[in-house]
Amino acid sequence: MSVINSFRLDGRVAIVTGGAGGIGRIYGRALAEAGASVVLADLDGAAASEEAAKFSADGHGAIGIAVDITDPAAAAAMATATIERFGGIDILVNNAALMAEIPRSTLTELPLEWFERVMRVNVMGAVVCAKAVKASMIERGRGRIINQVSAGAFQAGGIYGISKLALVSVTVDLARELGPRGVNVNAIAPGLVEDDAGFRALEQRPDAERRRRVDHAALNGRPPPGAPRRPTGAAAPYERSIRSKAASMAAARRS
Ligand SMILES: NC(=O)c1ccc[n+]([C@@H]2O[C@H](COP(=O)([O-])OP(=O)(O)OC[C@H]3O[C@@H](n4cnc5c(N)ncnc54)[C@H](O)[C@@H]3O)[C@@H](O)[C@H]2O)c1
Repeated sequence: MSVINSFRLDGRVAIVTGGAGGIGRIYGRALAEAGASVVLADLDGAAASEEAAKFSADGHGAIGIAVDITDPAAAAAMATATIERFGGIDILVNNAALMAEIPRSTLTELPLEWFERVMRVNVMGAVVCAKAVKASMIERGRGRIINQVSAGAFQAGGIYGISKLALVSVTVDLARELGPRGVNVNAIAPGLVEDDAGFRALEQRPDAERRRRVDHAALNGRPPPGAPRRPTGAAAPYERSIRSKAASMAAARRS
């Protein structure tokens, strides 16, 4: 058997939250091309369905679903619809988040309602979705949850960075809770990705060019300064996170 075949995801079922967005739909596409059935779940249900229709037209199993990840009933409905359509859930990519829409401001000047809103979506939303899918994963005896963090978690990234660092902590906690039950939980932390949201976030910063160079040189190593990652490139570490046996071993060590 070719080594590449051991990385296939045929028969697996994946939910990607924020699946109508820039990176989410790229992740969804990567999963579909690896053989998984994919549910693109997004606040913008129409855009998610439109994107899923493109996957289907290319011969992949895919549906789009409207969900607000902060709403437990909506997340439960997302899980139910996935199980009804594809028979279960193996993979959850907690990708939906607020980023470009957050006002750029110092932490002490940020209106407090934004503090609450960002933590609610970027942190609580991931837990709400994990809660919604865990029963199916445990029942199947396997699962993968990948939390989309950000390089912004490890620098002064305002409320966005704070929320992403909290999501690192959520990842460790969920890994400890669910690892022993066969559900492997990991996070990945991309640097700036060259998509709409990435550029909108960057351009709102007063020192955009300097930040771009610093972020990429210090945090990514590559691509070189001035050349943000393209969304397709962003899928690579995430695919490894889902598929690698090393990831399973890491979960086992944490448990
Ligand atoms: N773009 C970058 O440079 C970059 C870098 C590192 C990490 N990230 C992370 O990658 C992920 C995707 O970012 P993106 O650039 O594609 O952003 P994006 O804004 O294009 O996509 C985010 C998607 O999440 C959806 N969403 C927002 N709130 C939601 C909610 N409550 N319920 C359901 N869906 C909701 C939006 O509708 C949107 O489709 C985010 O977690 C972001 O923090 C992005």
